[in-house]
Amino acid sequence: MSVSRERLAQQLAESVAEALRTDLVRQERALLVLSGGSTPVPFFQALAQHDLPWERVDVSLADERWVADTADDSNARLVREHLLTGAAAAANFVPLTSNDATPEQGARVVGERVERLAWPASVVILGMGGDGHTASLFPDSQELGLALSTDDVVVAVRTPSQPQPRITLSAGRLHQARRHILHLTGEEKRAVLGRALAGDDVRELPIRAFLACPLAIYWAP
Ligand code: 6PG
Repeated sequence: MSVSRERLAQQLAESVAEALRTDLVRQERALLVLSGGSTPVPFFQALAQHDLPWERVDVSLADERWVADTADDSNARLVREHLLTGAAAAANFVPLTSNDATPEQGARVVGERVERLAWPASVVILGMGGDGHTASLFPDSQELGLALSTDDVVVAVRTPSQPQPRITLSAGRLHQARRHILHLTGEEKRAVLGRALAGDDVRELPIRAFLACPLAIYWAP
């Protein structure tokens, strides 16, 4: 018996709130790394309802489109509008863009900014596209090999399948978390995940880079 997308979002929010609460017992700050897109919106809205010491939580992104944070397709805007409201507005949001014209120019300062946070992250939330991408690790990106192998914190990404330049946390940095969660919905993505689980070519389906480490899968039809 599967749950609704709304109930899934509430269960995910409960798990993430519990993880942050647990880590904040033993450390001063906790880091939460979120993915953008459309899937996480009900999860952000549910998490915003939780009573946490939000002023001790750093919230950042697994990836970002290199657009103004007021643009419709900005992940920063998505997080600000749907998570950083009410009590959760006290969280410290750490964006992945800079005033530089391109992610290549901004990567160093963004990487330094992100590296200063409380790694390992308490939780990294990953999404997945129909092409098996996660964060901005895209199969058709010329930087995929670099993003899968570098020790750098962030990588600038150009992808034929995406309209904007992007910046992504590297796979290595995304692995630096106590908990990894994959949040996805729908039959199409479940089939792609099934294919990913049945093979091992990471360049074909980059989500495979996270199937070997412990991964909680939150899926609803
Ligand atoms: C982004 C996300 C990306 C997302 C997938 C799924 O910036 O778009 O970080 O990796 O998780 O593309 O997006 P949907 O939830 O919109 O299907």
